[in-house]
Amino acid sequence: MTRGKAPPPLPDRGGAPGAPAGNGAFEGLRGRLAAAVMARANRDMEAAALDLLAPQDGERILVLGYGPGVGINLLLERCRPAGVVAVDPSTAMAAVARRRLRRQAGGAAVSLVVGDVTALGPDVAGFDGAVAVNCHQLWGPLGPATAAVAARIGPAGRLVSLTHDWAIARVAPVEEWRDQASVALRRGGLGALSWGGGQYRSGPGTWVVARRPAPCPPGEGTPWATAVGERGPTATGGGLRHEE
Ligand SMILES: C[S@@+](CC[C@H](N)C(=O)[O-])C[C@H]1O[C@@H](n2cnc3c(N)ncnc32)[C@H](O)[C@@H]1O
Repeated sequence: MTRGKAPPPLPDRGGAPGAPAGNGAFEGLRGRLAAAVMARANRDMEAAALDLLAPQDGERILVLGYGPGVGINLLLERCRPAGVVAVDPSTAMAAVARRRLRRQAGGAAVSLVVGDVTALGPDVAGFDGAVAVNCHQLWGPLGPATAAVAARIGPAGRLVSLTHDWAIARVAPVEEWRDQASVALRRGGLGALSWGGGQYRSGPGTWVVARRPAPCPPGEGTPWATAVGERGPTATGGGLRHEE
């Protein structure tokens, strides 16, 4: 995160809040084909995001941009959440994910929502964890959408977002997008950020784990001290980590 200067606003690539995501790539025949490809190619990223989230039995988890639903199934294989709400605006993805969930133990407890991250009802809140894989770059506009998601996270909860670098680069240079996302997460109250990156089957990716900062005693400065150069968990076990 570059300090001292507000990053320039990014173009809105995701459509108006509450509107369909505007990404025809995820609907109809194209959507079904994309779902089949993503189910294989992005599986390791879904697993790596869950490593970062470390979901526990009894937690309530929000899954953003579930696509073909592989991440939901992996989540249910790892633990028994008290509840899972999963949101994606694509009806094609919802159909594929629903089919996959039918074969998954615990799948009946998942609430699949067809909608945009910004259009969730006010009661869809207080989550212990939220996970977004390869969809954060599609939320639009980035600032309000990220803040809307952050507001769904409970006081001790965390948000994990992991995205292909090449997908981020379609919106903005990765570093610039990261700065914008950091600002948006902080505005949404998730000021304790840990950024990192890794190499995945389908290319390099950038991740962030975002939490609410612990209350800071007066006079001790901000709670997000910088420590650059640590190793973070990724699919390949490596990657730079940057705490803010
Ligand atoms: C590239 S796919 C990733 C799917 C899956 N997580 C994966 O990595 O394979 C992006 C998904 O995000 C969904 N998406 C796009 N805009 C969204 C939004 N505003 N809110 C929620 N999901 C969105 C798309 O419909 C699509 O299913």
